[in-house]
Amino acid sequence: MPKFTSTAALASGPGFLDAEPLAPDFTDEILGFLTGLYTEPGTRRKTVLTYDAVSMLVHELVDRLTFGVPRPHISVNRDNVPYLALHTLNAAVFAIEAGRLAGYGNRLFDLGMASLIHDLGMLVVPREVRESASPLSPEDLRLVHAHPEVTLKEIENWSLISAFTKIAILQHHERCDGSGYPAGRTDAEIHPFAKLMGAADVLSAILLDRPYRSRLSATAALATLRGMAGRGLDPAAVDFVSRSVLTE
Ligand SMILES: [Fe+2]
Repeated sequence: MPKFTSTAALASGPGFLDAEPLAPDFTDEILGFLTGLYTEPGTRRKTVLTYDAVSMLVHELVDRLTFGVPRPHISVNRDNVPYLALHTLNAAVFAIEAGRLAGYGNRLFDLGMASLIHDLGMLVVPREVRESASPLSPEDLRLVHAHPEVTLKEIENWSLISAFTKIAILQHHERCDGSGYPAGRTDAEIHPFAKLMGAADVLSAILLDRPYRSRLSATAALATLRGMAGRGLDPAAVDFVSRSVLTE
């Protein structure tokens, strides 16, 4: 496992907004798939949740990001595309690129797989809770805090899923200062992949509109992410994720 150290000198810059997107046809295809995956319970899930189906798209995503010109791609809110679909695609792009920068070139598939499915467990949380602007009740908080484990339960029959993918999913809300969930792990107890995913997850979330708040500009989002380095988020993970969205 490569040493997880921070080396980058960061500069928030115009490169962020100049990003060229992935091919539109592929973006539509993967968002269509994720829309089916993250459809509300009660409406029929149009996408079949199988390892093979997800892994085909992850391989394609990793190939495009790795063997094309590595460029960030940021999806913005769209009608009829659930927040979780946009969020998981953005998080996957950031995590894959950050993983490449961190030296995990042979494990980008695991990061991409974890990123695309990491919030499946949020679908058991009622939509009004997920979108609530008010503090959550203890019971609602319990539901939210269970979502990494619920995601793993959803895929328990996937015999090919890697241990790296599982641990990234399980620990993506753990925080270095012990304030995270589900286990309240601290720095050394959190896998580097989960640290990268945690930072990618935060950056993706604040770049998208939610019913209770507006998205941040790219510059403000990067400043917010960097402000969390050492205060919950791993500084090196923040560093790599920040660099993942800057063009060189
Ligand atoms: Fe999550």
